[in-house]
Amino acid sequence: MDKPKSMVMVIIGASGDLTRRKLMPALYLLHKYKRLPEHFAILGLSRTEFTDEGYRERIRAQLLRYVKPEEVDEEQIHSFIHLLYYFSMDPADSDAYLLLQPKLLELDKIIGNCEHYLYYLATPPSLYGLIPQHLKKVGLNLDKGIKGKKRIIVEKPFGYDLDTALELSNIYYKDAFREDQIFRIDHYLGKETVQNILALRFANSIFEPVWNRNYIDYIEITAVENMGIEQRGSYFDEAGTLRDMVQNHLIQLVAITAMEPPMAFNANNFRDEVFRVYQSLTPLTEKDLAENIVRGQYTASETKNGYREEKDVNPLSRTETFVAMKLGINNWRWGGVPFYIRTGKQMPTKVSEIIVHFKPTPYPLFNCAGQTCPMANKLVIRIQPNEGIVLKFGMKVPGKGFEVEQVSMDFSYSSLGKLFIEDAYARLIEDCILGDPTLFTRSDAVEASWRFFTPVLNFWKEHPEIPVYGYPAGTWGPRESDEMISKQGACWTNPCKNLTNTNLYCEL
Ligand code: BG6
Repeated sequence: MDKPKSMVMVIIGASGDLTRRKLMPALYLLHKYKRLPEHFAILGLSRTEFTDEGYRERIRAQLLRYVKPEEVDEEQIHSFIHLLYYFSMDPADSDAYLLLQPKLLELDKIIGNCEHYLYYLATPPSLYGLIPQHLKKVGLNLDKGIKGKKRIIVEKPFGYDLDTALELSNIYYKDAFREDQIFRIDHYLGKETVQNILALRFANSIFEPVWNRNYIDYIEITAVENMGIEQRGSYFDEAGTLRDMVQNHLIQLVAITAMEPPMAFNANNFRDEVFRVYQSLTPLTEKDLAENIVRGQYTASETKNGYREEKDVNPLSRTETFVAMKLGINNWRWGGVPFYIRTGKQMPTKVSEIIVHFKPTPYPLFNCAGQTCPMANKLVIRIQPNEGIVLKFGMKVPGKGFEVEQVSMDFSYSSLGKLFIEDAYARLIEDCILGDPTLFTRSDAVEASWRFFTPVLNFWKEHPEIPVYGYPAGTWGPRESDEMISKQGACWTNPCKNLTNTNLYCEL
C-alpha cells in the first residue's frame, strides 16, 4: 500500500494520558525512522489552553520521559515537535467544530495540498458517539466537504455493552463514516509478539497436528500489570477491567490462539477467522456466570493505595480491577478445551503470556524428579516482557536410574541482538496511514465479542450479591480465582521474579 504524500493527523484528547504515554512516542518513532508522509502535521486538540509553542514544549518534556532512552535523539525530537500544532476546543461542543474547519485549512496551507485527514479519538469513551456527529455537521467526515480522504481511529472500548456498541456503529455508518474509514484500534494486535503467534502457528507445520482438543488439555492466558489505574480514575471507575481489558485485548489473544488458518493473509480473510472464533464462543450459562468468573478489586497494601483510595474513584466503588474466567469454544478443534483467562491491576509483576498446556502421557513410565507425574508439555508464548517462546518437555536426569525432569527449550527475542521490536502503537498508526485495516477490529467482531460478554455485565448488575473479592495490591488476585481453576484440575502459572530466562516459571 502506498504512503500518502501529505496528511494532517488530528488528535482529539491531546492533553490526555494516552496521547502522552503512547501516541506521541509512537509518532516520534515513525518520524525518526522516516515512516510518516513527507508532508505531515499533527493538530492536538483538547480543552486545555496552550499556544503551539507551549504544546510543543510540553510534548518535548513528555517524550524525554516516555520514549525508550536508546531512541531519544535531541535533533529528531526537535524536528518532530515542529510538526505539532495545537487548537484549544471542547470536543463535546458542536459549535466549536465551526472553528476547526478554518484551522484545518490553515494547516493545509502550511503543509500544502493535504490529501488525507486522520482523526484519532483519544478521549473518554463517552465522546466516541458525539465527535463523529460533530465532524459530520461541518463536513469534516466524508471525503467530500473539506477535500481530502478522511479516516478515524477509535480507541477501545467501542461501546459499554452490546446495545451501546450497536448504537455507536449506527452513528458511524449511517451518519458519519463508512466502515472502510473506521479503524477500531486494539493495541494488542499491534504487538510484534502477538503477530508472531500467527507465524508460529501458520508458518510451521509441526504445531498444527497437535493444536486441538486431542492433544491440548487447556489454554491459559494471563495479562497482568504491577501498576494501578494511574491518573485514569474517572474513566476506569466507569469501565472496569472487563471492558478495559477482557472484551478486547484478552479475547483477541483467545482469537489468535484459536483461529483457523485464514485462506490468505489479508484484511478480510484474517478478520473473518477472528470473527468466527468470537461467534463460536460457548454462551455462558447462569452456572458459568456464577461459578466460572471471579472478579476482584485491589485493596491497600503496606506501600500501595487500595483502588477505592485512588483519585477520582468512588470510595464505595464495586468496579473490578481483576477478572479471571473460564470460557469455551464450540467447534471441532476446541470442543471441551477450557480457556482460562485472567487480567488484573496491581499484581506482583507485569506479564502477558499464553500457555498451551498439552495433555500428559497416559501414565507415568518414569519417576518424575520431584515433579507432578506424568508431566505435561507446555508451550509458553511470552508476549511481554522477556518476549519469547518456551517449550517445556521431560528429559532424563543424567545418571543412573530413569528419573525424568522438565526442562525448557527457549527462543528469546533478545537473542536476535539489537533487532527493533516494533512499538505497537507505531505499527498500528502506520498501518492506518497506509490504509491497511488488517490489524484493526471489524464491527462484526466488536459486536460478537459484546454479545458474549454483555451477559456477564448484566449478571453482575442484576446480582449485586455476587462478590467483588478484595486482594491486597501486589498479590496474584483473589484466592477465589485459584480455587475456580484448581476445582477443574488446572492451575495458574505464576511467573517468578528474579529467575533466569530458562527457568521462568514456577507452579502455584
Ligand atoms: C490499555 C488499558 O488498553 O492496555 C490499560 O486501557 C492497560 O488499562 C493497558 O494498562 C495495558 O497495555 P500493555 O500494552 O501495557 O499490556
